[in-house]
Amino acid sequence: MPVIKLMRRREFIKKSASILASPAMLASSVAVANSGGEHPQTEVISLTAGKQMFKLGGMDHPPSPLWLYNNKLPGPVIRGTRDQNLKIQFTNQLDEPTTVHWHGIRLHNAMDGVSGLTQQPVQPGESFVYEFTPPDAGTYWYHAHHQSWNQVPRGLFGPLIIDETEPVFDRQHDLVLMLSDWLVDDDEVLDTGSFGSPRHASHAGRLGNFMTVNGKSRPVFDLYTDEWYRVRVINACSSRVLPFNPASFKASVIAVDGQPLPAPRKVDDVIRLAPSQRIDLLIRNDSPGLLPLELLLRRQTFEFASLNFKQNASSAQSTITSVNQVPTLPVNNKLTEPDVQNANQVELVMNGGAMSRLESLTHQGEVLQGRRFVETGQFWGFNGYAGMPENPLFSASPGTSVVISLFNDTAFEHGIHLHGHHFRVISREGTELVNNDWHDTVLMSPGEKIKIALVADNPGKWLIHCHMLAHAKAGMLSWFEVNA
Ligand code: C2O
Ligand code: CU
Repeated sequence: MPVIKLMRRREFIKKSASILASPAMLASSVAVANSGGEHPQTEVISLTAGKQMFKLGGMDHPPSPLWLYNNKLPGPVIRGTRDQNLKIQFTNQLDEPTTVHWHGIRLHNAMDGVSGLTQQPVQPGESFVYEFTPPDAGTYWYHAHHQSWNQVPRGLFGPLIIDETEPVFDRQHDLVLMLSDWLVDDDEVLDTGSFGSPRHASHAGRLGNFMTVNGKSRPVFDLYTDEWYRVRVINACSSRVLPFNPASFKASVIAVDGQPLPAPRKVDDVIRLAPSQRIDLLIRNDSPGLLPLELLLRRQTFEFASLNFKQNASSAQSTITSVNQVPTLPVNNKLTEPDVQNANQVELVMNGGAMSRLESLTHQGEVLQGRRFVETGQFWGFNGYAGMPENPLFSASPGTSVVISLFNDTAFEHGIHLHGHHFRVISREGTELVNNDWHDTVLMSPGEKIKIALVADNPGKWLIHCHMLAHAKAGMLSWFEVNA
């Protein structure tokens, strides 16, 4: 069981030297020039996908054949500012086609990077310019979206941070933690033989047994006591749900999936973060020492990183973060509230997978049964249909409010992601939610029923799929259309 192996590895991980990193050293940062003038000049960011040997287990371990952006794990932090143009010159130096998707950004459809739906994939040796103006500040990420089940867990992902017009936290108080699990052998080398495994696809997906945070195993971050920090956690795992309890590391939640909450929220329970989801935490510790950041796995906790708090001897503290007042994020005011009463109703039932009572799924006009599930590699469906259907899940004219009733009629969890839109999760199991937060991905437990509401206001053809990438490959995807 991958979970157990992950726990056994903890002993190994403990012995390995921890890597000290200051927030500024988190990852090489690519900033977008902001002249502050009336016509800010757009700096073109270069992003190249290529093959690179990388020592996942640390310097004393053999390297793994990863696929990376700009030879870095994770890819460079791409940073933009809300309402300002971002321009990325992408080059493909892999041996196969690829695309880049800007997860969670409500951008122009042609820039969404979905191979076969919004663009033709970028061929080896070729380039593509992605250009968009992000309407919302927050924590996002980018990743490959051509055979994502194969390209993402080989390393093709990186953080995408959109700053507020007036950033609330300075860079020293703004950390990005990108978590990714890897399926490795006993030498900590990536297991490439198991990509596309039908057993993974029909169960919980490809679960790793080794965890990296910003490409390192269990990093330690040096921070100061008595100062407020924003910690942006990104789940870049290809299938693993990450269970945190923010209270266990003295944090409150200030944003989910990029969108700020109306006020910082103390959470006493475990938050299960689906693959692709983000959570922004507000952390302040008044006593020096190590604060472990832990995942609460079934039987044990797993320390994935730690914060090392020291007193700030210098008087040059940040004005924002040294004050006693709790910093708050401005809300992204460009999201339109859905009209739930008068919304179009859409049903989405998840079916298939191991241990299901489902007998058949339709795939490209064929009714799959018995061995055909394995032969076609299709195990999951939406509304009884496996794979990309010819007809959209729904079509709407721009500005239409839509309520989608989701029912997870399978024995596994799924993280359902909508492209190009944010939605409110309005009810679970028939109970209206007080915290009906905005999301771009929602985690569903087996048997669960939830309702989400959105305004379909971004024209184009948009993907909707499970972000457990092995599930999407095995049939759990569809699309919807907002007419121009
Ligand atoms: Cu994170 Cu379809 O994508
Ligand atoms: Cu799934």
